[in-house]
Amino acid sequence: GRSTAPERAVRTRGAAGYPAVRPRRLRRTPALRRLVAETHVAPAQLVLPLFVREGATEPLPIASMPGQVQHSRDSLRRVVVEAAEVGLGGVMLFGVPAERDATGSAACTAEGILNVAIADAVAEAGDAVVVMGDLCLDEFTDHGHCGVLDTRAGHAGEVDNDATLEHYRAMALAQAEAGAHLLGLSGMMDGQVAAVRDALDAAGHEQVALLAYAAKYASAFYGPFRDAVESTLTGDRRAYQLDPANRREGRREALLDVAEGADVVMVKPAGSYLDVLADVAATSEVPVWAYQVSGEYAMVEAAAANGWIDRRRAVEESVLAIRRAGADAVLTYWALEIARWTREDS
Ligand code: PBG
Repeated sequence: GRSTAPERAVRTRGAAGYPAVRPRRLRRTPALRRLVAETHVAPAQLVLPLFVREGATEPLPIASMPGQVQHSRDSLRRVVVEAAEVGLGGVMLFGVPAERDATGSAACTAEGILNVAIADAVAEAGDAVVVMGDLCLDEFTDHGHCGVLDTRAGHAGEVDNDATLEHYRAMALAQAEAGAHLLGLSGMMDGQVAAVRDALDAAGHEQVALLAYAAKYASAFYGPFRDAVESTLTGDRRAYQLDPANRREGRREALLDVAEGADVVMVKPAGSYLDVLADVAATSEVPVWAYQVSGEYAMVEAAAANGWIDRRRAVEESVLAIRRAGADAVLTYWALEIARWTREDS
């Protein structure tokens, strides 16, 4: 088309009608493309989520997450060693308990599967990889909600925010005592970061860092995870997780969590929320991470299994996009595999 701005037309047109500006020059060879790449994905920026099932004697496949398993304590130890060997940034542990109750009490005892797994991981890897625990009650409650239910008349089925904070404090202490380096607060209760920070500091765990799932949306993309942890949830989490319609609110949640003492803030899911991620990254003074969740993983695996997309390219592109949008680190079920590819390539 003809430009209406003469100066611009002059600058972009070369002699005899050749283009004066040729962005393709820098795309010509792999070496040129590598040199001008704005974004990279390094193993140290990846965190591997891992599931540990109480009583499991061998790893059990998760049907909706091909390639992922519910670990036994032994297989967990092995994969944590592997994570350290390939230079991953960290592992995020989730427990699948044998027994659940109304208040998720197994989350708060040293013998609870998640706390046992944290201790195992730390015993195995020491400080070679950052060991993180998921700090949320949903795997431990028999109703499957992220907190305890409100017992007051007229509040049936609602999660009681402030009563839940008491349980999060106890859960945080149990994880800190098990040796966790960082706690992932994923419950989306108001005031959870401040409550947990206070409890940890008062108990001498002031060095344990807090990752706030600041902007965690009520997403359909958590579907396969619910299989992975054998979730018993009926209903949904829309009364505490963010509405997918809301962008500004994601930023607000992140700012609030930083004010409460979060060391890192996270956006979750990642792929469908890159706008929120970019907003948070633009304003945050602390590191910003993103969680590429189970549904994002399952979609690529399913399409690739059908031969509909190039699996490796889709995996790499999806994680690169999350980094490009502003994530300093990414939680992804492909962390080990991406790290191995990086190694093979270099
Ligand atoms: C809550 C939690 C969930 C996920 C991580 N932490 C489930 C939920 O909120 O419903 C989902 C992660 C994924 O889908 O990969 N403990």
